[in-house]
Amino acid sequence: MAAESGKQRLMTVTAQTPTNIAVIKYWGKRDEDLILPINDSISVTLDPDHLCTTTSVAVSPAFTHDRMWLNGKEVSLSGGRFQNCLRELRSRANDVEDEEKGVKIAKEDWEKLHVHIVSYNNFPTAAGLASSAAGLACLVFSLAKLMNVKEDHSKLSAIARQGSGSACRSLYGGFVKWIMGKEENGNDSIAVQLADEKHWDDLVIIIAVVSSRQKETSSTSGMRDTVETSELIKHRAKEVVPKRIIQMEEAIANRDFSAFAHLACADSNQFHAVCLDTLPPIFYMNDTSHRIISSVERWNRHEGTPQVAYTFDAGPNAVLISRNRNAAVLMLQRLLFYFPPQPDTDLNSYVIGDKTIMKDAGIHEMKDVEALAPPPEISDNNSVQRNRGDVSYFICTRPGRGPVVLTDESRSLINPETGLPK
Ligand code: ADE
Repeated sequence: MAAESGKQRLMTVTAQTPTNIAVIKYWGKRDEDLILPINDSISVTLDPDHLCTTTSVAVSPAFTHDRMWLNGKEVSLSGGRFQNCLRELRSRANDVEDEEKGVKIAKEDWEKLHVHIVSYNNFPTAAGLASSAAGLACLVFSLAKLMNVKEDHSKLSAIARQGSGSACRSLYGGFVKWIMGKEENGNDSIAVQLADEKHWDDLVIIIAVVSSRQKETSSTSGMRDTVETSELIKHRAKEVVPKRIIQMEEAIANRDFSAFAHLACADSNQFHAVCLDTLPPIFYMNDTSHRIISSVERWNRHEGTPQVAYTFDAGPNAVLISRNRNAAVLMLQRLLFYFPPQPDTDLNSYVIGDKTIMKDAGIHEMKDVEALAPPPEISDNNSVQRNRGDVSYFICTRPGRGPVVLTDESRSLINPETGLPK
C-alpha cells in the first residue's frame, strides 16, 4: 500500500443493508460448512429505514490484525463463518487507487493487509429480527466495495451465504429467491431478485416483537436436529416446497395477495410443524404468537378474502404482511386492542417505524388505545381478552430496497484518523 507522505493512509467504505423475512422458509442444510440448504426459499426485503445494518470498513497498513466492533463492543472475528467470508473476498480483491488520499493498493497486497469493521444494527440485535442476515450481507457488501471486488450481487450473495444462510437474500431489495443449487462446492447456491420493491408497493408490514422469557434454540442447532430426526422435513423439502416456490413466484409476479397470503401462512405453519416433528421438539412460537395467528385467521375469514398474511421465523415474533394501507390500519387497531401496552408505556416507543399507520388508525395517545372497541368478527364480547404487556413493541414498515453505499463521510462509523470506532 503506497501513500504520499503526510496524507491520510486509511481508506474506508460505509454501506447500509436491509434485513429480510422469508415467506417460503429456509430450514435445513445439506452442507453445514458451506451453508447449503435443502430447499429454495423466497423472502421480502424490509425497508432499511426501519430495519437495517450500517457497516463501515477500513484498511490501513497500520492495522495489525482484522478487528470488528458490533453495536459498540469489540467482537471476535475468529469464527469460521467470518473467516470464510474474508477469505473469499480477499481472493477476489483488485487494485484500488484513491487519488485524493494518495492511496494505492495492489491486488496482491490484500492478502497481507488487515481490515477494521464497525457495524451497527438500527434495531435490537437480540430481538430475533434476523440481524445476522443484514449484518453478514453488509459486511460482505462493504468489504467487496473496499476491495474493489468486481463480482455481481449474485456472486456476493454466495459469499454472504457462507457467513449466514439467509444473508444471501439481503443482497437485493424487493422479492428475492435463494436458489438451493446442486453443485457440491455451492457455487450455484445464490440469491436472485424476483421483483424490486416498487413492483408491489401496496404491501404494508407490521412486526410484533413478542416478549419472551424463554431462551430459544439457535437456528443452527435447531436445523441440524430437524434434518437428523424429522421425517416430515423430507416430505417438505422434496414434495411441498418445490411446488410452493413456483406458486409463490406466480403470486408475486401477479400481485395476487390471496395466493401470497395462503402460501406464506401455510409455509410458516409447516415450518413450525417441522420444528415440532424434531426430536427433541422445538417450540419457537408462544401463546402470544398463537393468539396473533388466531386473530388474523378470524379476521381473514370474516372478510372472506385475506387481508393479512402472517409469518414467524425461529422465534415468537410475528411478521404481518397487509394487502394494503387500509388493511394495515385495521390490523394495527386489532393488535392494539388485543395487546395494549403497559399503562406507563410511551406510545411513541410502542409503535415505531412508519408512524402514519398509527395516526390513520386514530391512535394519538394512550386513551385512544384504551377506547378501542372489540373487532366486529368477535361474536362474544364477554370472552374477549386484552393481553396487556405480551407484545414488547410493534414496527410498521414495508418492502424495501437492497444494499447501498453511503457516500456522505459523516455517516462513517470509523474515525478517519485512528481507524477505530467513532
Ligand atoms: N450479527 C448480528 N448483527 C450483526 C452485524 N451487524 N454484523 C455481523 N454479524 C451480526
